[in-house]
Amino acid sequence: MKSIELKKVNKQFKDGRKTIEALKETNFSAEPGEFVAIIGPSGSGKSTFLTIIGGLQQPTEGEVFIQNEPFSNLQEKERAKRRFKDIGFILQASNLIPFLTVKEQLQLVNKVEKTKSDEKKIDQLLTELGILELADKYPRDLSGGERQRAAIARALYHEPSVILADEPTASLDTERAIEVVKILAHETKEKSKATIMVTHDERLTDYCDSVYVMKDGVLNKREKSRK
Ligand SMILES: Nc1ncnc2c1ncn2[C@@H]1O[C@H](COP(=O)(O)OP(=O)(O)O)[C@@H](O)[C@H]1O
Ligand SMILES: [Mg+2]
Repeated sequence: MKSIELKKVNKQFKDGRKTIEALKETNFSAEPGEFVAIIGPSGSGKSTFLTIIGGLQQPTEGEVFIQNEPFSNLQEKERAKRRFKDIGFILQASNLIPFLTVKEQLQLVNKVEKTKSDEKKIDQLLTELGILELADKYPRDLSGGERQRAAIARALYHEPSVILADEPTASLDTERAIEVVKILAHETKEKSKATIMVTHDERLTDYCDSVYVMKDGVLNKREKSRK
């Protein structure tokens, strides 16, 4: 079983008469329980890679499979449905909604789906992430680390099979960053997610199962334990 699979995926952008190849032909896969780090310089194609996996944009060529099923080739409406069910996004700081409490950030999924919220699951998740006592607080009352934990809780709440995190610790100091990444690693294993985290911070890759380097749109796996 593969949680994520990319087959010969590339992405080009037209810029006037020039074509930018943001992602060159890429084959990639990740299994349930695998925590993958992507590092690489700014502009190398990391976010393009992540948003293509998440179905926020489509590849120019090639195909993305989620849970062994075609994903990128689906029609927009079907793709949005699958994305909602299977993908959890965690972005850099402040993708929380300012006028909702921590708990309401999670319950929003139910509002959209017109379903009842699972209060037990919410309490359990907030407890696991150590923010239960912050359930009724607004984002402005939280520290950076607490906000990212809330964002992780929200991403996990609808039980996606894939977690995509684009520099989730960019706004945190090293200690908080490590804390957040440890939680991500734990949840990835515990709940058999496939998690892909883009990061600038080399130290965080210690908590990942595999590390890939993106350079000029080319993704290469790095051999582990160079220490
Ligand atoms: N929507 C877009 N239109 C045109 N060029 C883009 C677009 N998105 C990304 N690019 C270009 O693709 C390359 C990779 O970008 P990106 O994936 O954001 O890199 P990273 O996340 O590693 O910083 C860059 O040269 C960027 O300018
Ligand atoms: Mg980026």
